[in-house]
Amino acid sequence: MDYTEQGMETSRIKKIYASYSRIYDFIFKRWFYPRQQHVIRSLSLQEGQRVLDLGVGTGLSLPLYPRHVQVTGVDLSNSMLREAQKKIRQEGLDHVTLLEMDAGQLAFADDAFDVVIAAFVISVVPDPIQVIAEIKRVSKPGGKIVIINHFQSQNKLIARVEKWLSPLCQKIGWRSDLALEYLVHYAGLSVQQMYSLNKIDLWKVVYVSNNK
Ligand SMILES: C[S@@+](CC[C@H](N)C(=O)[O-])C[C@H]1O[C@@H](n2cnc3c(N)ncnc32)[C@H](O)[C@@H]1O
Repeated sequence: MDYTEQGMETSRIKKIYASYSRIYDFIFKRWFYPRQQHVIRSLSLQEGQRVLDLGVGTGLSLPLYPRHVQVTGVDLSNSMLREAQKKIRQEGLDHVTLLEMDAGQLAFADDAFDVVIAAFVISVVPDPIQVIAEIKRVSKPGGKIVIINHFQSQNKLIARVEKWLSPLCQKIGWRSDLALEYLVHYAGLSVQQMYSLNKIDLWKVVYVSNNK
């Protein structure tokens, strides 16, 4: 659970994702989209629910939300948001609003959302504990919170390799050494359910209860 070394700085994250923005979908859609699709379907979103898509990026997930919910997508990177805005325009996604915002300092009232989804973002932010605190604050008591992310393996050997690789991974935009246990311990994350979509999968789908 050693996650104390300096994470990526916000300015560096912005720079990295600005450079990705135009090619992001081409590289990542095949990996990320099926997992987002699975999660959004699993939530059976109800008419009028408010959904926060945290670190929405280029908006890969946006066409997946039913039109009867209100979606707010936030991201640090205006270059990524520009790509998301294109999708909104092209697909007429009038039920989606985008805001440039730091996930660690959300400008929303307490209990503002029925559902919060954080896909492939928790190991990108500099301070995941602060982000989890913000997720809990803005989600309603009893609201649904889902995190899709890579977490450090529980296998000691693989975990060591992930720790070793993390500085390299940070150069391309995320850390490979964030353990779920770290979030459970230090952010009070209460895991309801967790699984991977495939037997060998880099990412976990984690359903979290809002125990604030
Ligand atoms: C790997 S991408 C994931 C994007 C999207 N969720 C997806 O599934 O395709 C990570 C995103 O998190 C954003 N991000 C990083 N740090 C952030 C922060 N502190 N607040 C909001 N967004 C952040 C990046 O700009 C980037 O768009």
